[in-house]
Amino acid sequence: SAAEKGGHDYFMLKEIAEQPKAVADTLLGRIDGAGRLHLDEVRITPRELREVDKVVIVACGTAFHAGMIAKYAIEHWTRIPCETELASEFRYRDPILDHRTLVVAISQSGETMDTLMALRHAREQGAKVLAICNTNGSTIPRESDAVLYTHAGPEVAVASTKAFLTQLVACYLVALYLGQICGTKWGDEIRTVIRQLSEISGAVERVLATMEPVRALARSLADHDTVLFLGRHVGYPVALEGALKLKELAYMHAEGFAAGELKHGPIALIEDDLPVVVVVPSPRGRSVLHDKIVSNIQEIRARGARTIVIAEEGDEAVVPYADHLIRIPVTPTLLQPLVSTVPLQVFACELATARGNDVDQPRNLAKSVTVE
Ligand code: AGP
Repeated sequence: SAAEKGGHDYFMLKEIAEQPKAVADTLLGRIDGAGRLHLDEVRITPRELREVDKVVIVACGTAFHAGMIAKYAIEHWTRIPCETELASEFRYRDPILDHRTLVVAISQSGETMDTLMALRHAREQGAKVLAICNTNGSTIPRESDAVLYTHAGPEVAVASTKAFLTQLVACYLVALYLGQICGTKWGDEIRTVIRQLSEISGAVERVLATMEPVRALARSLADHDTVLFLGRHVGYPVALEGALKLKELAYMHAEGFAAGELKHGPIALIEDDLPVVVVVPSPRGRSVLHDKIVSNIQEIRARGARTIVIAEEGDEAVVPYADHLIRIPVTPTLLQPLVSTVPLQVFACELATARGNDVDQPRNLAKSVTVE
């Protein structure tokens, strides 16, 4: 009913709008006044965590994209090697795991069969499993050694939105907590980022307030067949997520690429008026990344692409090459996906609606996939 949807036309719109709160709720009570993390609810002791020599993340779909972003964060802040793998591939390749491996299983529903089978396999090999989950008492947290719940509230729309943002928050918390416990040279940065994370929900709110041009752009593209998405670093999984949203909702051919891969093949796809969404990393911090993506935008535009550029406020270098410019707030490099994903969700939702699709119940899909 309309009441259930909180005055929105679709659950998906309601859930997109709930993201600032979902993010804030997932942080609530986990950061103290001095900017230290308290994850005592995670029933793996600091001593056990100090022994971890490898982190393996398993998940499917959107949760897998959160896991890909977590890899950048975990390796940067902890210096512990981390791999992220599709749960459906994981156990079939005989992965190397032991009691010093921490497996992180990410799942909104807690019932995804592929992820469940991966975690069972991990525990049989002696690994410790930490679940990141949005559903209290569901199978995945019940079968794990520990759980860190996301507090997105129930997610009804098939396409995951607010659960994704809270999975990211939980992944950052795990990465920063491991960094805090294990002590790395990034101690000062970790304290700064914890403070920045605690203020991030305001930035998500600001993005939501500026989405009208994104909706108009989406409607104008309803007759296109293909949209490509490019990103680098943590912007790469964001590009994959933007493409997944468009596939599942708009039933369009949508693909995400690491921008550095363009010249290794995908650039051959570029033709006149092809919409290409580019997620641009912050020009501050790792500016090499930023410079490289600006050249990528020039390369595709020279070949006729219609560039849709998502870039930080104040990033002037992209302006001459952007056919459409979507601004996001200035955010620390690793946290940028929390703001850059939001326009892509709105874009996919509006484009799908313009094509006459039911965004809450896309064809052929189920909210939780309980078969392998
Ligand atoms: C996301 O929009 C999808 N519907 C899907 O990829 C989903 O993220 C995946 O099936 C995993 O679900 P889970 O988080 O409940 O395990």
